[in-house]
Amino acid sequence: MNVKLYNQPLEQIGAELTLEFVSSKTLEAHPHHALLTQAGFKAEQEQLCALHEHRLLICGIDKEESDELYRSAMAVAVKAAMNYAYTSLKCAQYSAERFCALIEGVVLGSYKFESYKSEPKPSQLSEVIFSHENNDGSSNDFDALEAVLNRTLIIAKATNFVRNLVNQTPDDMTPQQMAVTADALATSNNLECTILDVNGLEDEKMFAMLSVGRGSAHPPRLIHLAYKPENPKKVITLVGKGLTYDSGGLSLKAATSMVTMKMDKAGGCAVMGMIKAISELELDIEVHAFVGAVENMISGNAYKPDDVLRAKNGKTIEVRNTDAEGRLVLADVLGYAQENVKADYLFDFATLTGACMVALGPYTTGVMGHNEALKHSFIEAGASAGEYCGMLPFNRHLKKLIKSDLADVCNVSSKPYGGAITAALFLDNFIDEDMKEKWVHFDIAGSAYTESAWDVHTYGGTGAGVRMTLNWLMEHCK
Ligand code: BES
Ligand code: ZN
Ligand code: ZN
Repeated sequence: MNVKLYNQPLEQIGAELTLEFVSSKTLEAHPHHALLTQAGFKAEQEQLCALHEHRLLICGIDKEESDELYRSAMAVAVKAAMNYAYTSLKCAQYSAERFCALIEGVVLGSYKFESYKSEPKPSQLSEVIFSHENNDGSSNDFDALEAVLNRTLIIAKATNFVRNLVNQTPDDMTPQQMAVTADALATSNNLECTILDVNGLEDEKMFAMLSVGRGSAHPPRLIHLAYKPENPKKVITLVGKGLTYDSGGLSLKAATSMVTMKMDKAGGCAVMGMIKAISELELDIEVHAFVGAVENMISGNAYKPDDVLRAKNGKTIEVRNTDAEGRLVLADVLGYAQENVKADYLFDFATLTGACMVALGPYTTGVMGHNEALKHSFIEAGASAGEYCGMLPFNRHLKKLIKSDLADVCNVSSKPYGGAITAALFLDNFIDEDMKEKWVHFDIAGSAYTESAWDVHTYGGTGAGVRMTLNWLMEHCK
């Protein structure tokens, strides 16, 4: 979808359909009030009413002060408009501060993934044009709006890039293919790219990650992308869990839980999308993105419950469940990342636990770490970017639940509660002392994928983490 901004009042813009947001407050005074009332339109959130004879699409808004409601309503409206035969849609501003949310609604809401359809259904709608003027006729600064448009488009398109990767099947997006994708991104965006294959991983003594991948016909890859502007203000390390498929391994998942596990690479895809957006925005920060791309499968050679693995930092891990594989991969990738880059901040993104969904629901990212202020800053960044985040607190008692009688640490908790936090506390074993306060772990198990549309998301990958992190970086690394 092309998104454009014109320096013209709405009436002067030539487009086949006009979109208007109407609340219960503005409904009364609407020129088509009688017609809308007759059609049963009550301005309920996301309620649509098309007045085709007037070339008008009206969309209800519950609270005029909420960016989130406008973002979501725009997504619903644009999806509806895509089902008509109009080729262009125009829309006014609803205050300059809201422009970002409207653009996100268009770009993220119009996203469709049809690579596996033999007859994709292209929409006629190809452009959405915004006026620089507000719906009440007041004016906004065009240049400021244009800057918002450019920035928001880069971030929203990077989010769709992540969705495209996540939505690919495990046989198409293997660890090797993740590496090929990273390499292509490096070429197009002028990034440095290093890939370690099995030999490289052995040289680096990354035996936890190697063990997880051992049962698969698709060998693992470690991906390192780097964006290095001159005189960066900060150095940031991003780490992503890239399980291209998680069958559970010998601790095999139940049939119904295995479906959707192609999404277990979403953390890895997210950090690739983040570095894409960062490089296109030319942010003044050095960024390193590390992805542990691995497939967790069964075979005579697969790793087992009862194995003891030695991670890159030398710690030994008792494996009691091969389905808690993400933390094993991250243990090594976090170790590798810290050894190779001295960063100001270290953030990891992982579809790590079903327990995170139990704790926070299926829409919210779990935020964990030792630095309270840093975690709070992410909750804020998430809220203003339109991503839900919730903090899950550590405590010293939970830490005891992953003690092992055999090795240094156990890969599962001895109690069935607080699983998202005990997983994060497992990762804590692989965070160097000097990085403890600089580290935040994001569990995106619930937020990264959906099988039913919600907010700006359609079926499939959501691109969770990208908007929140970009928002945080633009605010905190100026
Ligand atoms: N990839 C899963 C977590 C997951 C579950 C992500 C559902 C998205 C949706 C992870 O590897 C896993 O299987 N975790 C186990 C951990 C358990 C064995 C301690 C889980 O959550 O059940
Ligand atoms: Zn698993
Ligand atoms: Zn997993």
